Amino acid sequence: MLRDDYFKKGREFFGVKYPIICGAMTWVSTPDLVAAVSNAGGFGVIAGGNAPVDILRQQIEETKKLTNKPFGVNLITIAPNYKQHLNLVVEMNLDFVIFAGSFPRQNEIEMVKASGAKTLCFASTKSIADRMVRYGSDGLILEGMEAGGHVGHVSLTVLLQQVLFELSEDIPVFVGGGIATGKMSAHLLMMGASGIQLGTMFAVAKESGVHQNFKNRIFRANARNAVSTPQFDSRLPVVAVRAIKNKAHDEFSKLQFDLLRKLDNDEITRHQAQMDVENFWIGALRDAVIDGDVDNGSIMAGQSAGLVNEELSVSEIVVGMSDQIELELQKVKEKLNLIK
Ligand SMILES: Cc1cc2nc3c(=O)[nH]c(=O)nc-3n(C[C@H](O)[C@H](O)[C@H](O)COP(=O)(O)O)c2cc1C
Repeated sequence: MLRDDYFKKGREFFGVKYPIICGAMTWVSTPDLVAAVSNAGGFGVIAGGNAPVDILRQQIEETKKLTNKPFGVNLITIAPNYKQHLNLVVEMNLDFVIFAGSFPRQNEIEMVKASGAKTLCFASTKSIADRMVRYGSDGLILEGMEAGGHVGHVSLTVLLQQVLFELSEDIPVFVGGGIATGKMSAHLLMMGASGIQLGTMFAVAKESGVHQNFKNRIFRANARNAVSTPQFDSRLPVVAVRAIKNKAHDEFSKLQFDLLRKLDNDEITRHQAQMDVENFWIGALRDAVIDGDVDNGSIMAGQSAGLVNEELSVSEIVVGMSDQIELELQKVKEKLNLIK
């Protein structure tokens, strides 16, 4: 099989059959989903998010009961419980720890590696990628702004040229954001990626416990409906999150205009305005994922939502994508053989 060559680096890195990662998704990545992905031969990741440390411990223990295959734990370096999460993963001697949010300090990477885990860091620019390599990260994840959830500002196309093409010979580089087909994945592997990270497609899988309303909104969505939260004025910075546009987005825009008017009229301090902006989305992902409130909650999803129209099982996603990858590699080989 042609894909064996292209899967080799990612397969050896994770010790899995298929280097297809289900990226961590706060509230979505339950032990059931994570274990289902790993049991299907992919790589599941638990989301540390803002979870209380005991809940994260429980999730790790539960996942270990559901699978004996490799899985990872994703830590958000800017989360309030980050330090406790870090101590927990070190204490539990996990196999894989992924740092997200911002970038970790060198001593944090070293501490996790000393506990026996391999580490992965997100790199949103070449200079961050270089720094993470210098700090000792074992692998990199490039996530384009097409992705669901908290996003950077650079598209995967540019990150591929800036980072993948420069570093894929030196370190395993995994890519994500807007990917939902084996065909695309095959070309990314040919470009040097060691594996593919998907979020939205797994969020709506059969084994995913997200509310049916959440799934339905994603099935109905076009790529252009997955928008990043807007920022209208540099006085009110907004953390960019990509989600399916809904009533909450309109309310959030109204809130910002209202706050900007009040700032212009000195009716409110910048600190108060910023607090109002930050408080707006608190609990919104949970509202949509768990309670199914898809009007007022946050339906985080990538532009890949436009490519995801049906509820597949995790195994259909993982095996189906691998088969499509093989098919595409064969097609490319045939095309190249035709060139004299
Ligand atoms: C609902 C949702 C929640 C997410 N939460 C996290 C998170 O907690 N940590 C993280 O590193 N990435 C998070 N992500 C990003 C995913 O792990 C993944 O990189 C992204 O969804 C890939 O883009 P795609 O959705 O187009 O496949 C989240 C994405 C979604 C859709």
